[in-house]
Amino acid sequence: MSIPEYFELEGGDRMPRIGFGTWQASDEVLEKAVEAALEAGYRHFDTARAYENEPALGRALNRWIAGDAARRKQLFVTTKLPPGGNRPESVQEYFDASLRDLNLEYIDLYLIHTPFAFQHVPGDLHPKNPDGSMKVDHSTNLLELWKTVLKLKESGRVRHVGVSNLNAEQLSRVCSVARPACLQVEVHALCQQPALAAAARELGVPIVAYSPLGSKALADSLSAKTGREYPDLLQLPAVVRIAQAHGRTPAQVLLRHTLQRGLAAIPKSTNPTRIKQNISVWDFVLSESDMRELAALDRGENGRICDFSFFGGVQDHPEFPFKK
Ligand SMILES: NC(=O)c1ccc[n+]([C@@H]2O[C@H](COP(=O)([O-])OP(=O)(O)OC[C@H]3O[C@@H](n4cnc5c(N)ncnc54)[C@H](OP(=O)(O)O)[C@@H]3O)[C@@H](O)[C@H]2O)c1
Repeated sequence: MSIPEYFELEGGDRMPRIGFGTWQASDEVLEKAVEAALEAGYRHFDTARAYENEPALGRALNRWIAGDAARRKQLFVTTKLPPGGNRPESVQEYFDASLRDLNLEYIDLYLIHTPFAFQHVPGDLHPKNPDGSMKVDHSTNLLELWKTVLKLKESGRVRHVGVSNLNAEQLSRVCSVARPACLQVEVHALCQQPALAAAARELGVPIVAYSPLGSKALADSLSAKTGREYPDLLQLPAVVRIAQAHGRTPAQVLLRHTLQRGLAAIPKSTNPTRIKQNISVWDFVLSESDMRELAALDRGENGRICDFSFFGGVQDHPEFPFKK
């Protein structure tokens, strides 16, 4: 069973279905990891203004591009409008800052990072109230924001625009204006989002799965704060058994499962061996019974890790996507 290694986008552009995640790595570590990723064959890189690592990613990518326009064309670079920029009059300023920090002539894909918004506080991407809750901007008009983000394409400085962390109803609403190039959401074995995936398929919007390996760093930090236990996806007995049967690693099984479901995935690693393993997922096939066994691991909403509980106050925003 051969599956496409790219999503075909408008204008003939191609988004590699395995990308490289960059969240939660220090600048120095990230630059080395990006070099290892380029060496291993990754061409799709995912960052966000909110990760505060655009300059480090830009440095590593620019060293590889070395001024060669043909090399730049081989890359697919995604960044995201932070929640503090979620109003039409803020979009251009945040976009320009990302382009400047990445030090690129254009961005391949620009996403609205979240449908909820923070207040615009210059120099502070995560503005907080004295009680530690976020300074939330409740006045978000998602469709006006989307229309403004779409207009960015007119400058030629961004090739595609899309959305992240939207639920099915929100996705359908933005599609009534224009179809996003992708929807980036949390998807992994414990949070498979079959209804959202079906809705996106129906609307013709490709899904990019974030935290495809279960985001251990985030799970550990949330667990330390709340005491909630997050199972380690890489140690789930079904995943380990299927990995052993194929002579593969658990991470490769999780990524292949995501790909065979028709999604893209953007695993993050800073370890050169794991970086290579995570892109070496094109030469084995999960059987129908493997796929059924992996599908049965889904815990629905209870499997979600990145529920934005770490941003106190956003849960009351009218566009908060994960209302139970
Ligand atoms: N749009 C959004 O709101 C959003 C939210 C979250 C994430 N994202 C994006 O999605 C990317 C991926 O998600 P994530 O970083 O949350 O988590 P993830 O990719 O699911 O997991 C990363 C963790 O898995 C470990 N790991 C990676 N490969 C491994 C392997 N082969 N075997 C064992 N462990 C392995 C990494 O450790 P080592 O580094 O030590 O290998 C790291 O601790 C992010 O980096 C970011 O770009 C987007």
